[in-house]
Amino acid sequence: MKSILLTGSYGQFGEACIKHLKSNFKLFISDVIVLDNGIQLDIADEKTVDQVLAETNPDIILNLGAMTDVDKCENDPSMARAINVDGVKNLCRGFGGHFIQISTDYVFDGIAGPYDELDETNPISVYGRTKLDADEWLRANHTRTTILRTNVLYSYTKLTQASFVKWVVDSLSQGKKINVVDDQWNNPTWTESLAPLIGKLINIKAFDLFHYGDADLMNRYDFALIIAKVFDLDTNLVSPISTADLNQTAPRPLRSGLKTEKIESALGIVPNSVETCLEKIRKQLVK
Ligand SMILES: NC(=O)c1ccc[n+]([C@@H]2O[C@H](COP(=O)([O-])OP(=O)(O)OC[C@H]3O[C@@H](n4cnc5c(N)ncnc54)[C@H](OP(=O)(O)O)[C@@H]3O)[C@@H](O)[C@H]2O)c1
Repeated sequence: MKSILLTGSYGQFGEACIKHLKSNFKLFISDVIVLDNGIQLDIADEKTVDQVLAETNPDIILNLGAMTDVDKCENDPSMARAINVDGVKNLCRGFGGHFIQISTDYVFDGIAGPYDELDETNPISVYGRTKLDADEWLRANHTRTTILRTNVLYSYTKLTQASFVKWVVDSLSQGKKINVVDDQWNNPTWTESLAPLIGKLINIKAFDLFHYGDADLMNRYDFALIIAKVFDLDTNLVSPISTADLNQTAPRPLRSGLKTEKIESALGIVPNSVETCLEKIRKQLVK
């Protein structure tokens, strides 16, 4: 059985990856703050990275560890670079196996999405810049790499800490009004749509760049309305606002989203609709 070292395992995507990979791979679960029996691993700390790699000797590294708070990255670019770029270099130094990097649509400027793998990148935030620098470094320096770009990942399980779907469901269930931007377009992606693709990419040694998002391109306000409908909540509590009204520190790509034809034909898959994913989440939550 091949082994995978997962970094950033206790984040939103880590839970789904563990669930979908644990039967077919030996997993070494790590994060910067350790839970259960996980391995303490700050990918920005070269020495600890070397120690963990020597102790675990994985066949595959699945790098989920990242500074993902886009506004915090904008305020602290050197920390963002230390984790999102140097962390990747640290993991690859002395590692010759299959490296899987989860990247983002934030490498694009959001003027003319949805984007395919050949579209020109042009990040407009520190987060996007650092993620793109890591993608480019990997493509130039570690040929046994899969880069999987995704967008607006969501999940809602008993363990989920922060997720758009959880925020919408919890707010509306408590009768709270919410404002949601209607000018940011993506194809929101359930973590459990994406996680099963990782095992498939490993099996075919897909050393390449792929985009994946679920089937429906929509703005965030419409996404909130669909969530409300699927969970039988009051759509009148959701109001549209514009991104400019939020006065966020980092600019966001507005017309974004990812085209998925390449990964569909490589893996023989068909992306799920958002409504199907939300129905499944709802069923899992009541179990
Ligand atoms: N969420 C999205 O919409 C989205 C979209 C496209 C791509 N991605 C990419 O997908 C990957 C997983 O994202 P996610 O949604 O699961 O993010 P997340 O919930 O923020 O998880 C990231 C994990 O990395 C950990 N981490 C932070 N600094 C680290 C360090 N120095 N060393 C090791 N781990 C560190 C975080 O720990 P703390 O929580 O303690 O900081 C967290 O557990 C990331 O690479 C992200 O860039 C996410």
